[in-house]
Amino acid sequence: MTGRSQTDWIRNQVQPMNIAAVIQEGDLTDAVRDATRPAFALYGADCGMARSPAARYHAGARVAAGGEGMDPKPLQIGSLRLATNLLLAPIAGYIDLAFRLVVRGIGGVGLASTALICPRGLLRQTRKTMDLAATCEEDSPVAMQLYSGEIDPLVEAARWAEDHGVHVIDINMGCPVNKITKRDGGSKLLCDPDRTLRMIERVIAELRHTPLTAKLRLGWDSSSIVAPELARRLEEAGVAAITIHGRTAEQMFTGQVDIEGIAAVVSACRHVPVIGNGDVHSPADAVRMMEATGCAGVMVGRGALSQPWLLRDTWSILTTGVAPAPPTIEQKCGWMRQHFLNMVKFRGEVPATREFRKIASWYARQMNPCRVMRDRMRLVSSVAEFEAILDQFLAWRLERDAQMDGGRRLPKSEAELTPVA
Ligand SMILES: Cc1cc2nc3c(=O)[nH]c(=O)nc-3n(C[C@H](O)[C@H](O)[C@H](O)COP(=O)(O)O)c2cc1C
Repeated sequence: MTGRSQTDWIRNQVQPMNIAAVIQEGDLTDAVRDATRPAFALYGADCGMARSPAARYHAGARVAAGGEGMDPKPLQIGSLRLATNLLLAPIAGYIDLAFRLVVRGIGGVGLASTALICPRGLLRQTRKTMDLAATCEEDSPVAMQLYSGEIDPLVEAARWAEDHGVHVIDINMGCPVNKITKRDGGSKLLCDPDRTLRMIERVIAELRHTPLTAKLRLGWDSSSIVAPELARRLEEAGVAAITIHGRTAEQMFTGQVDIEGIAAVVSACRHVPVIGNGDVHSPADAVRMMEATGCAGVMVGRGALSQPWLLRDTWSILTTGVAPAPPTIEQKCGWMRQHFLNMVKFRGEVPATREFRKIASWYARQMNPCRVMRDRMRLVSSVAEFEAILDQFLAWRLERDAQMDGGRRLPKSEAELTPVA
């Protein structure tokens, strides 16, 4: 199959996933949750979608396995040459140092980023901000993402970040959350491109060697699509790469990512790499994004939360056309454990266990059947309890899978397991 017909095939076979299905309750503002609840419930009730996420994932792998990969041009951000063309997205509350290390260990990451950081918090070195900014040698290369509606603190924070050795500084121009936009940061920067350009020019003038990038949405709403023009002006101002999430701020996380909107930003930029972002949940989605838009790289967010191996698989498919063997349940449990223990190490047992309650559900999406484990993880309160829940689950799953493989009687159901004390 030629590259083009392969892409058409993927496009026809793989319908864009209902994004509401991967938004988790508790992640977002009430407004988004309300807007997405009906779709979430529909999906949760197994409404008979033609393809499950797992089927979509493997369909892409099979298609690409028949080819030889796309052999993407190396992705360069300023003087930084990335090892792959795949970026791990910033996701506040989820993608932190603990998780970045897990995904980097699995493979496929060209660049990862901190979640959005408030310059004033960084300059005051508040505990919360320093936690967000935390990185280490293995977490490399790393971008620090800043948001601001004010020029001076932004310039000062960018200098601080450069002095502390981050590889890339990224400016958030996409966050639609009220807490950020009411301070004129995030997607509010899309509303006044002239002022935004002045901010960016000031920051670039202050930096000595660190590349500055920007992460945009398409515009504030569908009547004010500014991303192509803004991206072009940012490029002229000296920005080293643009990431474009193909939604408007008004859309928050609803609807489907606008592939044509991403393509328009790619076309508007002459030499800086444009990275496409939104709704990539399988290697096939990434192939489709690259082929359909011509983007130089792909940024993956929520897809990696439930499938930390997604960047590894996608990179393998992009470069060789072959997907690695799907992860085993032991590997999935191992990555979940590593993530949790990293959090304990970096933050302490009590905050880590509290935070992991919401994170476990993302892992659980790819570990079914696991309802009892998932429900128990939602209440986990210590390292010992975490280990007991996971060990018990894994023992049950291995026995169950072995029995099923042998066509024998099913062992005790997960629900029959002794409750964790
Ligand atoms: C809970 C949540 C937190 C997010 N936090 C950030 C953030 O700190 N900075 C940022 O640029 N984007 C943030 N995003 C947006 C993601 O980086 C990404 O653009 C978006 O989720 C679309 O990509 P995906 O479909 O691959 O997840 C966040 C998204 C979610 C759902």
